[in-house]
Amino acid sequence: MSLETDFIVIGSGVAGLRASIELAQTGARVTVLTKDKTSESNTEYAQGGVAVVLSDDDNAELHEEDTLYAGAGLCDEKAVETLVVEGTKYIQQLIEWGTEFDREGGRLVFTKEAAHSRRRILHAHGDSTGKEIVRALIARARQEKMILLMPFANTESLIVQDGRCVGVRFLDPILRAPREIYARAVILCTGGAGQLFLHTTNPPVATGDGMAMAYFAGAEMADMEFIQFHPTALNLENAPRFLLSEAMRGEGGILRNASGERFMSRYDEKLELAPRDVVSRSIVAEMRRTGTRTVFLDMTAHTEEFLKNRFPKIYETCKFYNLNIATDMLPVSPASHYCMGGIRTDLHGRTTIAGLYAAGEVACTGVHGANRLASNSLLEGLVFGARAGEAALENSKFKIQNSKSDSQSGIWNLESGISTAVRKRVKRVMWERVGILRDEPGLKRALQEFEQISKANLGRSSRNFVTLAKLVATAALWREESRGGHFRTDFPDRRDEKWDVHSIQKSGAEIFRSEKINFENEFATEK
Ligand code: FAD
Ligand code: SIN
Repeated sequence: MSLETDFIVIGSGVAGLRASIELAQTGARVTVLTKDKTSESNTEYAQGGVAVVLSDDDNAELHEEDTLYAGAGLCDEKAVETLVVEGTKYIQQLIEWGTEFDREGGRLVFTKEAAHSRRRILHAHGDSTGKEIVRALIARARQEKMILLMPFANTESLIVQDGRCVGVRFLDPILRAPREIYARAVILCTGGAGQLFLHTTNPPVATGDGMAMAYFAGAEMADMEFIQFHPTALNLENAPRFLLSEAMRGEGGILRNASGERFMSRYDEKLELAPRDVVSRSIVAEMRRTGTRTVFLDMTAHTEEFLKNRFPKIYETCKFYNLNIATDMLPVSPASHYCMGGIRTDLHGRTTIAGLYAAGEVACTGVHGANRLASNSLLEGLVFGARAGEAALENSKFKIQNSKSDSQSGIWNLESGISTAVRKRVKRVMWERVGILRDEPGLKRALQEFEQISKANLGRSSRNFVTLAKLVATAALWREESRGGHFRTDFPDRRDEKWDVHSIQKSGAEIFRSEKINFENEFATEK
């Protein structure tokens, strides 16, 4: 039997929770389907903080400038302005809802991260900013009686009828059976796809399902080639690539090679605080130059007491691995971290499919361009989560369809996740051929491998995963230049004369270029 609600939100990170709260304030029924426990998401692990214009020496123009500069010519200026200007209001609201950002003498404290011209990053419990934001948002969502949080409900595909998204198919966690749920609108907040790569800072839920679901439903995808690799993930054999926050370099952390030499001056005058893509490539170059597989983060200029207070989670995690961050050199190397591309949306989260909205890391609004400025994504989730909720409410007068979908109702088979064999193979190929350094032969080889994997009789989740890998590799092969998070060794320069454009991909069509992401007023997605 299928279910019915007013709005479906998929995902319970910052974007999904914020969108749900917006929707529920009007008394609408909101069902939040989420793959794991409610708190499990990229948001939960965010460390460094959230960028916001609130300090006395900062202003919106400066934050916009820094964001545009990091985005390497591909940001949408209107989207950036919306993020920065509205961001302040949403952070203040988050504080009113009980989020405890760190303070000194009652005043908020701000830290600095790479490519920010001001100290404008708020943080919570030192390095547990995401956890605190999730705590406060879940508590706020639980006050809304109309929000139904449904954990362990893996969603696998969207139901589209007559060109409109009317519901989703998911695995009912109680019945342990596939189900359909119908609504006036669906908001995808499923986050990013760091798990596409062998080495990642992202938790296992970050497999990019929402992007693949939207692609199969016919939505346009934008800028999929732009992946951000974080320079400093803990590099220990048989341990996950735990993030060592950029804020550690913001507090003076130094990168050293295996001989103990500080090496960033060889690569960039901004040293350890150069943009992330530059630091990641510099680390790869230094490892190659010295024939080693790791470099080291040195925090020993600080006292143990300072580091324990400022980075408690990192301190404890490193201690678990027998490393004292105050005295030991910390082995680090880059890992996939964030997807700048995603489902193409306008500034209200509308996608190119009626009834389907997207917000947060799953979406491409144009705020990040070719490279995201550190700590801008929690802010993005708040601002665009709220805006998507607001737009879905305003636009969705649509009557709920509760018919069987024309596809496979009753016969579709929902596997419990991506098969281990597919996951392993895709992750290795993505890391080796579609990673930090790319070239034409490697990308073509990757695409051949993905074609081969696709020929097997795959379940839907595995198919989603390999399709997403193909989208990233196809866009990376198409873009014959280097810019932001995309680096081609065969085209090492930025080439504005031809490539100052976005890649757009759509099922059944060749990849094409677009002058802009944001299609405000171009498509009437709601009738
Ligand atoms: P997420 O928070 O990832 O939430 C996605 C949700 O969708 C999850 O609940 C997931 O379970 C659910 N989901 C996924 N697939 C399905 C499915 N098929 N069915 C049902 N549910 C599904 N950004 C900053 O701004 N500042 C930072 O300091 C910072 N630090 C970071 C540190 C780490 C280690 C990582 C990994 C990221 C960090 N980021 C940071 C990036 C930031 O955390 C994310 O970009 C942001 O939290 C994404 O929010 P979201 O709501 O879009 O997605
Ligand atoms: C970090 O703390 O280094 C992550 C910040 C971010 O990804 O924005």
